[in-house]
Amino acid sequence: MNPKAEVLLAAIALRPGARVFVEIGCTRKAAETADDGFSTIYLAQEAKARHGLLHSVELNPHNIRVARAAVTARDLSNSVRFHKERGTNWLKEFAGPIDFLYLDGSDDAETNLDEFEAAETKLSPDAIVCIDDCHAYSGRRFGKGDKVIPYATKRGWTVRLVRTLEPWQMAILISL
Ligand SMILES: C[S@@+](CC[C@H](N)C(=O)[O-])C[C@H]1O[C@@H](n2cnc3c(N)ncnc32)[C@H](O)[C@@H]1O
Repeated sequence: MNPKAEVLLAAIALRPGARVFVEIGCTRKAAETADDGFSTIYLAQEAKARHGLLHSVELNPHNIRVARAAVTARDLSNSVRFHKERGTNWLKEFAGPIDFLYLDGSDDAETNLDEFEAAETKLSPDAIVCIDDCHAYSGRRFGKGDKVIPYATKRGWTVRLVRTLEPWQMAILISL
């Protein structure tokens, strides 16, 4: 298993009761590689095992086709709904609740904050939020999480930064 998926699954294991999974940014490769998460497939497997559902929100229709084929090939399509939409917009409209949220879409730290804020009132009390690429790059201490991490910390979330593959790290935000 690739290192990003290992961290995601370890985070999910903290919440045996999680049923509703949301990812922003679907899998864009047909086969697993060491440097991408293959997240749609792993999250769909978790959703299926827990009789839950993964909502996969993605802007690029080509990537949705790739991810859909990968989940169909693994008999996971009943556990996933794809939404061709901008993450923030979809999250604003979604009624919730969300037990597990994975932010892995835009590279822009402000957009990741917008997504977190759009999801905030829909997150379950014991929700977990993971954000990929929270290592220092492009002059930002926490990469994609540069705005969310200080914001969430002030609001009482516990933030763990976990190395995936050098130099990447993933942020795991725990609400309880
Ligand atoms: C790093 S890839 C996701 C990788 C995937 N989570 C995995 O583990 O295999 C980022 C994806 O997010 C999509 N994306 C970028 N900005 C987005 C946005 N604002 N809303 C939804 N999807 C977005 C891109 O088209 C791309 O497919």
